[in-house]
Amino acid sequence: MLEIEFHNREKEIREIMRILNSRPDLITFVYGPINSGKTELFQHLIKTLPKDFVVFYVNLRHVYVSKADDFLKILFDVRSKRVSVKTIAKEIVDTYVPSEVVTPLGRFPIPKNVFKELFKEKAIENVFVYLENLLSEIAKKKKPVLILDELQKIGDVKIDGLLIYELFNFFIGLTKEAHLAHVFAITSDSLFIERVFNEAMLHGRCRYLLVDDFDYNTTKDFLKKYGFSREEIDLTWNYFGGKPVYLVEAVKNRDRLKEFCKESLEDRFTFILYRINDLKRKNPNLFEKVITLFKAFENEDKTECQEISDEVIWTVKNNVLFLDPRKRLLKPQSQLDLLAIRSILKELID
Ligand SMILES: Nc1ncnc2c1ncn2[C@@H]1O[C@H](COP(=O)(O)OP(=O)(O)OP(=O)(O)O)[C@@H](O)[C@H]1O
Ligand SMILES: [Mg+2]
Repeated sequence: MLEIEFHNREKEIREIMRILNSRPDLITFVYGPINSGKTELFQHLIKTLPKDFVVFYVNLRHVYVSKADDFLKILFDVRSKRVSVKTIAKEIVDTYVPSEVVTPLGRFPIPKNVFKELFKEKAIENVFVYLENLLSEIAKKKKPVLILDELQKIGDVKIDGLLIYELFNFFIGLTKEAHLAHVFAITSDSLFIERVFNEAMLHGRCRYLLVDDFDYNTTKDFLKKYGFSREEIDLTWNYFGGKPVYLVEAVKNRDRLKEFCKESLEDRFTFILYRINDLKRKNPNLFEKVITLFKAFENEDKTECQEISDEVIWTVKNNVLFLDPRKRLLKPQSQLDLLAIRSILKELID
């Protein structure tokens, strides 16, 4: 079977290591287009981190979160033994194996009796106090790192206010105030990042790290590893740009590359066409605005975004466009989306 090995990301890894090797001061929000390799990057990094780090990696992708308790409960790995937080922390410090953390949920161990107590009342406060105690015990020996993937999944979950605000406060406590743990929050939802970016409580308390698709040279080097010729590289780049997930598939479909490229574009075209036609029926006014927005990509691959209008929300929510709120830029989620948008404009004009 063809083994695809982790490729490059030297610049991003250097940046993350620079953060990890300094005192925790700010929350790091990691963002980027869909399927750009954010999760892959962090999973790779966790496996290769020096032993003096202890990582808790929680991926919310595969969990169902409808209320705050759902989120709080999945943070824990409930143990039957009655032991103290100190003992648990010691066990983690002594036995920690980075590669074992890379499961969908790298959860925090907790004794059953303590777990039950936490959820009797004021669960959110109790949970954060427990986690802070555990992390501060671990921090005496090693450097704790907390990574939350797909954080937008709890964006609208309510407690008294919104759960996400409580969580941001907890993160600020761990970083800026106590300097206890590094915190990385990963998301591919650019509307969520836009909310974060404009959130007053986070100003001066976080930094941003963009994990984008590969650039041309990185893509070329990746494909060369699997024996791609100059022509095959150009064909792949013209259809998929540097989107890692498609590059991996291109390698697997090398013996029928042209067909694979055309099929992929056809799929993307159909996906967008069905959605846009559905919108035309339900909301002709918004449909017109989306088409006007698409026209910005007739000859350009990005456009400036001055406001989060309805058409921006629609195209971003449907994963057709990616918004970088820091640069106020809108661009298709992938080269394939750019080609599909252009084909759709032609189809509608003909
Ligand atoms: N650096 C890389 N080297 C090799 N393959 C990669 C790399 N980055 C990503 N991939 C491939 O692309 C796929 C998608 O990457 P990944 O799931 O990390 O993207 P993501 O940005 O987390 O996506 P999402 O937006 O859905 O969260 C991976 O399963 C892997 O096959
Ligand atoms: Mg991901």
